[in-house]
Amino acid sequence: MNPTKTAAWNNLTDHYDQIKGLSIADHFYRQPNRGDEYTLQSLGLHIDYSKHRLNQETIRLLVKLAEEMELSQAILAMFRGDRINRTENRSVLHTALRDLSSSSLMVAGEDLLPEIKRVRQQMEVFSEMVRDGSYLGHSGKPIRHIINLGIGGSDLGPAMVCQALTPYQHPHLTVDFVSNVDGSHLAQVLAGKSPDQTLFIVASKTFTTQETMTNALSAKQWLINHYNGDQKAVAAHFIALSTNQEAVCEFGIDPKNIFVFWDWVGGRYSLTSAIGLSIMLAIGKDNFKSLLSGFHQMDRHFLQTPLESNIPVLLALIGIWYNNFWGAQSHAILPYDQYLHRFPAYLQQTDMESNGKSVDQQGKVTSYQTGAVIWGEAGTNGQHAFYQLLHQGTKLIPADFIAFTKSHHQMGDHHQKLLSNFIAQTRALAFGRTVEKLSQLNIPKELVPYKVFDGNRPTTSIMAQQLNPDILGKLIALYEHKVFVQGHIWNIYSFDQWGVELGKELAGEILPELRGGLAGGEFDSSTNRLINYFREHQS
Ligand code: F6P
Repeated sequence: MNPTKTAAWNNLTDHYDQIKGLSIADHFYRQPNRGDEYTLQSLGLHIDYSKHRLNQETIRLLVKLAEEMELSQAILAMFRGDRINRTENRSVLHTALRDLSSSSLMVAGEDLLPEIKRVRQQMEVFSEMVRDGSYLGHSGKPIRHIINLGIGGSDLGPAMVCQALTPYQHPHLTVDFVSNVDGSHLAQVLAGKSPDQTLFIVASKTFTTQETMTNALSAKQWLINHYNGDQKAVAAHFIALSTNQEAVCEFGIDPKNIFVFWDWVGGRYSLTSAIGLSIMLAIGKDNFKSLLSGFHQMDRHFLQTPLESNIPVLLALIGIWYNNFWGAQSHAILPYDQYLHRFPAYLQQTDMESNGKSVDQQGKVTSYQTGAVIWGEAGTNGQHAFYQLLHQGTKLIPADFIAFTKSHHQMGDHHQKLLSNFIAQTRALAFGRTVEKLSQLNIPKELVPYKVFDGNRPTTSIMAQQLNPDILGKLIALYEHKVFVQGHIWNIYSFDQWGVELGKELAGEILPELRGGLAGGEFDSSTNRLINYFREHQS
């Protein structure tokens, strides 16, 4: 269904005209208790959405839009395993991977939970052996270095989580991630590592991805060179996470070292599947369980909570409000926690690969905007880089500010300073600084226009006590479901990614040209020139 044809969309358009003149400060003037009224506290999260250009009527109409778009039915359909990824004819069941409370999940006559549990158990046994030093490499030494070779969903999630949960990491294991086909990435990570104590995880759902397979082959060569050509070393030093068992075996990986998952797990939604093995190796099985439990609690909340107090739904609807009614093009993710500095990059794939679409579920080009540009950086670093534009630029950029009351490192007053910045920024963005305020200060007149802050820049503040596995699971699931809600309301297919195909295909055509052959001539003049420039400047 086209969302713009609903009554709620029309009403929202009228409502926008009625309230567009009201600033966030005006809303606070009319509702001085907004800080209380527009805060949700649930699952250990404190979500303050008061500093937005909206009132209760806005929320009511947005919820109506979700109802008219039959959001609740869509949520149920995903959880019960309907093939909602229609262009790939697949179910979307990442929620089943962390379902710690159901006794069965029947999909097309098959109970999925026993197989999910079996793989999780296989991961637990394996990770415990590596962690306690009883898993030995080819020359009988315990593993000290883990290198995950994967890209996109087979890299971003595990890399982000391992970084975020650094305080929970095994003290004697290093965990690295190599994604880029740029050989510098692999070379940099391999430097200084002893092959006989290194374990490679080849993480690839399809086991055909160019970058991952190229890195895996080079890593294999590095290992075999160390063992003077002894191919048998591969079995002890390479494991695979994949849905494609045949290709894994062809690569030479021991079938007992394959950790499988299924086509109903989307790449960018896969970190709680076998793709999360690097996480389990880093933080141990109990912390991994807490992570799953956090995910599961948010899944339940999403499934069971009425739309108006459902955290992912509310944040999704507020995003739609800015995207489709105020014309916002981007959305910033600003975690005030250094350990979360990969979170914006991770969410870029979750959100932009899911909702960066312009054809609706009926095959028609959408007449309205869909997914926003997601970007961000950890605070306070971003304050010294791009916040100037957030405060005084010409763009409207709604932002999520994320922070934790307790630090993992009690170091002087660092944490109070960090949090004072976190709180100050959303206040400055919302309320700004007026000419009248400036006139009370001793500012030279000619500088006044430059020192005015219009304010009225919307933010959501998300707080929790500490960045631990449970809270991180909840946060990630919150954004996964936010993306689902937006994709559903925009009437697009959020779980395919056809838009990444063309570039891959053309790279396949261009590669032989770069390897040699005749001078270019098959492509457009720009492409030909680039190819020729490469050929002429290699040595
Ligand atoms: O190029 C996009 C993509 O297909 C992502 O959706 C996926 O997460 C990534 O590539 C890696 O794919 P694979 O796990 O199959 O190697």
